[in-house]
Amino acid sequence: MAFFQWDDKYSVGVARFDQEHKKLIDLTNRFYDAMKEGKGRDVIGPTCRELVNYTKTHFANEELALAKTSYPNLAEHKREHNLFTNQALDLQKKVESGEPVVISSIGNFLKNWLINHIQGTDKTYSKYFS
Ligand SMILES: [Fe+2]
Ligand SMILES: [Fe+2]
Repeated sequence: MAFFQWDDKYSVGVARFDQEHKKLIDLTNRFYDAMKEGKGRDVIGPTCRELVNYTKTHFANEELALAKTSYPNLAEHKREHNLFTNQALDLQKKVESGEPVVISSIGNFLKNWLINHIQGTDKTYSKYFS
C-alpha cells in the first residue's frame, strides 16, 4: 500500500485540481519511497526537487484560477501556500546537502499538510467553480 493514498473524500469538486492533488500525492510517495529505500542523494534530491517544483506550479495554478472568481479568501490562501513553499524549500536544501533527516517525520509532515490544506482550505473554493 502506498504511503499516501488518495481518497474520494479529498475531492474539491474541481476535476482539474483533483488531478493536480493526485499528482502531488504521487510525487510525495515517490520522494518518501526513495528515502525509505535508502536511495542516494542523487535519487532522493531530484524526487524532492520535483515535488517542490510541482507544488509551486500547483499553487500558482490555483491562485490564478481563484483570482478569476469571487473567492474571498485568496490573500489568506496565498499566505498558506507561501508558508508551505518556504518549508518545502528548506527541506529541499537539507535533502540536497545530504543532511540527515527523519524520514517518517518528513513523510508525515508532507502528508498531513496536504490533507489539512486540501480538506480545510482548498475545499472552501469548491462553490466558486460551480
Ligand atoms: Fe491545492
Ligand atoms: Fe491551495
